[in-house]
Amino acid sequence: MNFEPKLSIVNSALFERFGRYLNDIETAILIGSLQKQTYEKIAENSGYSESYVRRDVGPKLWKILSEALGEQVSKTNFQTALERRLMLLESKEIGNQSIPLTPDSHGKTQLLSSSVQDWGEAVDVSLFYGRQSELATLKQWIVQDKCRLIALLGMGGIGKSACSVKLAQILQAEFEFIIWRSLRNAPPLENLLTDLVLFLSNQQSAKADIGQLIHYLRSARCLVILDNLETILDAEQAGQYSLGYEGYGELLRVVGETSHKSCVILTSREKPAEIATFEGVELAVRTLKLQGSQEAAIALLQTKGLVGSPQQKQTLCERYGNNLLALKIVATTIQDLFDNRIEDFLKQDTMVFNGIRRLLEQQFNRLSTLEQTVMYRLAINREWTTITQLQKDIVPAVSKARLLEALEALNARSLIEKKSSSYTQQPLVMEYVNEQLVEQIVKELALKKLSLLFTHAFNMGVPILGSSRLKAALDLNWNEPNQRNLALSIVLGVLEQAQTLTQQSKISD
Ligand SMILES: Nc1ncnc2c1ncn2[C@@H]1O[C@H](COP(=O)(O)OP(=O)(O)OP(=O)(O)O)[C@@H](O)[C@H]1O
Ligand SMILES: [Mg+2]
Repeated sequence: MNFEPKLSIVNSALFERFGRYLNDIETAILIGSLQKQTYEKIAENSGYSESYVRRDVGPKLWKILSEALGEQVSKTNFQTALERRLMLLESKEIGNQSIPLTPDSHGKTQLLSSSVQDWGEAVDVSLFYGRQSELATLKQWIVQDKCRLIALLGMGGIGKSACSVKLAQILQAEFEFIIWRSLRNAPPLENLLTDLVLFLSNQQSAKADIGQLIHYLRSARCLVILDNLETILDAEQAGQYSLGYEGYGELLRVVGETSHKSCVILTSREKPAEIATFEGVELAVRTLKLQGSQEAAIALLQTKGLVGSPQQKQTLCERYGNNLLALKIVATTIQDLFDNRIEDFLKQDTMVFNGIRRLLEQQFNRLSTLEQTVMYRLAINREWTTITQLQKDIVPAVSKARLLEALEALNARSLIEKKSSSYTQQPLVMEYVNEQLVEQIVKELALKKLSLLFTHAFNMGVPILGSSRLKAALDLNWNEPNQRNLALSIVLGVLEQAQTLTQQSKISD
């Protein structure tokens, strides 16, 4: 059983009421209760004494949950109380009054503090485990040491974005303004500056220059988080910027060097040159390298309902470098193919973790055609996409019910993320799917399959597509993320239309 959705509901309710989430032992009690385990068994599985679980944590937990969920909750009725809560949430969502489960991604939210906040596309961290020491270090750098520029570095999927959102939530009371922005669509510096200045000036100014930004970073205490900075770094020259994005280097230099009372945090898989240069000289510029967290990894496995001894869980986590994205994905394989048994998976799987790619490859190959199409579409769109938009994008037309089924399946495999009925992918997954798409198209072109499809369609007398569209797509600059996505979108559309026509012609033959 996957406990994540249920724990997420509890965490959201707890956060709304008390501004905190479940800790590890509370999570263990809830999971045990959902599995109808006794306190004795829960204590044994989680390594705590029975009396502590039964007499101390248990009663306190039911008390706060009763308050958070607005009804009397106990170990025995917990499951039904959750189901009632879920129904309530669904009815609110249908009525289009979806309540913010976490800091809402869309627009500003006022949460437990008087600061003005804009969370952009920040991920949901209602289920967040471990990372206590990293968060404490970052907090100290920001609150006591007044750091101006901090880089949170680490490999894809290790937890940089999640950590940055969690940190911003913890530090809400410290700042007058909090803004979280993803750079994964490679915005030109001017666009980002306009966005930041508009927000920090309370919509009073839209002047897109670095000086103006510094002015606002001086006037108020602001927390600015820039996520996925590696998107605008040059893949070939470590720490340097892609063509046209050099201005970002200047931005970081000025933010790190100039005196102001705010803090800019960036997350990146690579270290930008400015950080490397200044962190030695300027005490206000620092780097934290995030490694895999075993505590978070083990807690994650627990919520997935996987069965195994502590040793087996540890082996599994180590095999995937405690990379949470990798573990989320592999957990679904263990659920699907190994009946939740970690031991059976470990016996079969000889892979030593060498990056997440092989894992993604295995997962991707297991998807249905519709699921793969949805993955391609989401990778092209890059933004959070609603089901209605996806339905419009996909050719041949697919019913909403089938689409929803595919989306739920992908969500359950942790290949996509869902928030208020919109969907997107983790950056690493998105990159992988984009590469797959390019590869696929190159293969199709090489095999002349496309032109065959065209010929076929033309033979049927259907005035289609126009190879001019294809040519325009091929003429775009495939090295530039936005242009590449436009090109991919066009080519995919052409492919899908051509395939539909071929299928239709087969049916009528
Ligand atoms: N401490 C944590 N507790 C629970 N889940 C986490 C934690 N950290 C990360 N995750 C989950 O693991 C996945 C990967 O994390 P995240 O997106 O933060 O990685 P990242 O380092 O930002 O990757 P990328 O470089 O690809 O952007 C996400 O689904 C996230 O919700
Ligand atoms: Mg990230």
